[in-house]
Amino acid sequence: MKIAVIGTGYVGLVTAAGLAEFGHTVIGTDKDTAKIDLISRGSSPIYEPELDDLLKKNLAGGNLSFTSDVDAAIREAGVIFVCVGTPQDENGRADMSQIEGVARSIARNLNGYKVVVEKSTVPVKTSEWIKRVIGLYRRGDTPFDVASNPEFLREGSAVPDFLEPDRIIVGVETDRARDTLVKIYEKFRDRILVTNIDTAELIKHASNSFLALKISYINMIADLCDRTDADVEKVAQGMGLDPRIGRQFLKAGLGYGGSCFPKDIQALMKIGEDLGVDVGLLREADGVNRARTGLFLDKVKKALWILKNKRIAVLGLAFKPETDDIREASSIRIIRELVKEGATLRLYDPKAMENMKEIFPPSPQVDYCMEPYQAVQDANAILVVTEWEEFRALDLARVRELMANPIIVDGRNMFDPAPVRKLGFEYYSVGRK
Ligand code: UDX
Repeated sequence: MKIAVIGTGYVGLVTAAGLAEFGHTVIGTDKDTAKIDLISRGSSPIYEPELDDLLKKNLAGGNLSFTSDVDAAIREAGVIFVCVGTPQDENGRADMSQIEGVARSIARNLNGYKVVVEKSTVPVKTSEWIKRVIGLYRRGDTPFDVASNPEFLREGSAVPDFLEPDRIIVGVETDRARDTLVKIYEKFRDRILVTNIDTAELIKHASNSFLALKISYINMIADLCDRTDADVEKVAQGMGLDPRIGRQFLKAGLGYGGSCFPKDIQALMKIGEDLGVDVGLLREADGVNRARTGLFLDKVKKALWILKNKRIAVLGLAFKPETDDIREASSIRIIRELVKEGATLRLYDPKAMENMKEIFPPSPQVDYCMEPYQAVQDANAILVVTEWEEFRALDLARVRELMANPIIVDGRNMFDPAPVRKLGFEYYSVGRK
């Protein structure tokens, strides 16, 4: 069984390499020729731990290949994983034009029965549209099935997430499609949940929005902690000891960013509105998240009063550690505000600086530093925006010596307040004293 994977973004690239690792013959395809050339040489266009090795291994093994000829890849394959982007349109809905384009390509190249698998995050009912488009554009009545197999991988741990999944959701409407997908994921048979297609599509949006809600909930609790003597880390620990709540995704901080949560919660809101369902709960969670940057900057102003001409070190730019991705990163909003206020910024991130330079090119006001100690030199304050392990390992005594004023505003609760203060720092964090 040959598998084509259309789209070589985060999801597509990991899916192609991961399915090849499971022993299948996989052709990854994307119309971006430059990207395909790079990937064919075993080099991932994105920074993702373990991905280069997985690509190289399977390219060398001969069961993984890449082509920019999307039509040929479709014709050769019996199963097609659709992994193209579903970005947010100007109304907050998922823009489905790339999915529609792929459906038309599949229709034009339908030379035998194929299973078309939605892997990208799509609104519930998308399969109906895909079926309709393929039905309209195919020649003759060559049979096909549409299935939904949402991907739950996290950036930064995408490869292990794919290779050792907690669960595999398979949404199908025929036994033939079900058998095909179960065979592809044979080694995880005990982790497969088979549902109808609407259910599978909804599981993805429902999961991501629930996690976003959980983060906003603990951030709201952090706001209460900020105004009392309660400590949000301990509150989260206490809550998390209840197995019904669980410890994960209760980390208060600057809120959620990235390519999924902000977009998916918006998309689910639109789905609800379109279907006439009250989604106020999601709107509130979104609002709590949007308020994070302002509350953080209030703390910065509380520490520095006037920001104009202050020298501020910003540690961390990526939306989370172990990625170079800055999509919907709170660093962008923070930098924009600080620049507007007239501060001079010294930025450092282990992986995301090149991406950030496209938004904020180096200038007298925005300087990029080779290492954290350079960023903190003569700074009036440090802002911790992404919790990279590298920052935890900093020699804070040395940092203190280098700074003009020993002030840390920690947006991710990276450090223990007591030892940091003992070193002479004025230390502000989220939801704790
Ligand atoms: C997420 C989902 O976890 C994944 O299953 C889905 O396929 C894609 O979206 P990802 O966006 O890569 O993955 O990152 P994740 O680790 O989930 O973090 C998302 C955001 O939430 C980050 O900005 C992170 O900093 C934030 N976060 C996470 C918190 O603020 N607190 C937490 O407790 C957890």
